[in-house]
Amino acid sequence: RRIMKAKVDPDLCIGCNICIDVVPKVFEMQDDKAIVIVDIVPEECESDCKDAADQCPTAAIEIES
Ligand code: F3S
Repeated sequence: RRIMKAKVDPDLCIGCNICIDVVPKVFEMQDDKAIVIVDIVPEECESDCKDAADQCPTAAIEIES
């Protein structure tokens, strides 16, 4: 199966916290910016990760799969 990776662009993230609320297994807040805490997005989090990327107000989340 294809693996999924996620990235947050720190220049775009405004720390709105949506991604952490939606997928706390993948995103964490560090110094007012979201960071990705997994190397590979767990399969059960893939759809939530896409939702978080769609909902991010500044499109700071990049999903690679
Ligand atoms: Fe930042 Fe977007 Fe998450 S602004 S905190 S990456 S939803």
